[in-house]
Amino acid sequence: MRKVGIIGLGSYIPEKVVTNTDLEKFLDTSDEWIRTRTGIVERRYAKESEATSDLATIAAKRAIEDAKISPEDIDLIIVGTNSPDMLYPATACLVQEKLNLSKKCAAFDLQAGCPGWIYTTVVGSQFIQSGAYKNVLVIGAEAITRMMDPTDRSTYVLFGDGAGAVVLSEVEEGGFLGFELFADGSLSQYLTLPAGGSRKPFSEQVLKERSYFTQMNGSEVFKFSVREISRISSVLLEKTNTKIEDVDWFIPHQANLRIIQAGAEKLGIPTEKVVVTIDKFGNSSAASIPVSLDFLRKQDKLKKGDLVLMVSFGAGMTSGAILMRW
Ligand code: UT7
Repeated sequence: MRKVGIIGLGSYIPEKVVTNTDLEKFLDTSDEWIRTRTGIVERRYAKESEATSDLATIAAKRAIEDAKISPEDIDLIIVGTNSPDMLYPATACLVQEKLNLSKKCAAFDLQAGCPGWIYTTVVGSQFIQSGAYKNVLVIGAEAITRMMDPTDRSTYVLFGDGAGAVVLSEVEEGGFLGFELFADGSLSQYLTLPAGGSRKPFSEQVLKERSYFTQMNGSEVFKFSVREISRISSVLLEKTNTKIEDVDWFIPHQANLRIIQAGAEKLGIPTEKVVVTIDKFGNSSAASIPVSLDFLRKQDKLKKGDLVLMVSFGAGMTSGAILMRW
């Protein structure tokens, strides 16, 4: 079996900072509530002129540069997103064009809730393992704040925009050691964007009821997330014969600091090994893990040979985990 790993990593976080105090100006909320209930201090918003493909392209260029390959060497682009530029075409095709790679590689989107980047990375690595492709560009990108209702304090305060990208290729040492993917469609009603698809096309009624924005049952999603973060991690650790003490970095999806802490505690991972970026970037959905991985690296903390456990959960409901040697 070919060994697959990350040969290039890059991220892009929009410049516009939105603090909790900024939100207090138009929402019945408070800095204190947001900090204590979620751990978020500020988040980033994409510029009005920017959509998901724009954020994705910047992250992708950085990952390709980091991989020290030419863009022409990319065989496939997969974008994991919940906030595509349009329902179709795929955001990956728009990224392909922005990278001047039209006609030169395959491109498609994969929608798997917040674990979108975990799912795309697992899918992308299969093409390399099978020998079908050499280099796969995998991106988790979101202008997800556009999908949030600015009048709904229970969702609007949580999210931020961003993008993270990796180039996957065959590696001699390290790389992915295992993965675990999971979905439970019976819980799908807990986190939805009901309108704009074929079930409920856009209409005056949709406009009136604001169902073109995200709807979330926060406490049900919270319960699922705390349960899944430790369950799926434990399954993967067992599958790969790995002891939790051997994990150097735990990168959970950044949805709520309380979920992260509860998950880490259940797994027995000490705080200093847990990567937290939610305070700065909020929940950037499918972008949160690659953005956090790049954040860790930029701080010079990620060392060659480190064992990294990444785990995510979200709409679907889905969850996914990857264990890798950096
Ligand atoms: O990316 C994956 C998807 N997302 C998640 O994983 C999110 C999972 N869920 C959560 O993180 C939490 O459930 C929330 C942060 C969304 C909510 O926290 P909570 O501790 O579960 O609060 P709650 O929903 O039980 O609400 C408690 C109170 C309510 O008021 P009442 O009914 O007790 O009077 C809410 O109306 O807090 C109120 N509340 C707020 N107050 C101030 C909800 N949002 C806010 C807000 N500011 N932004």
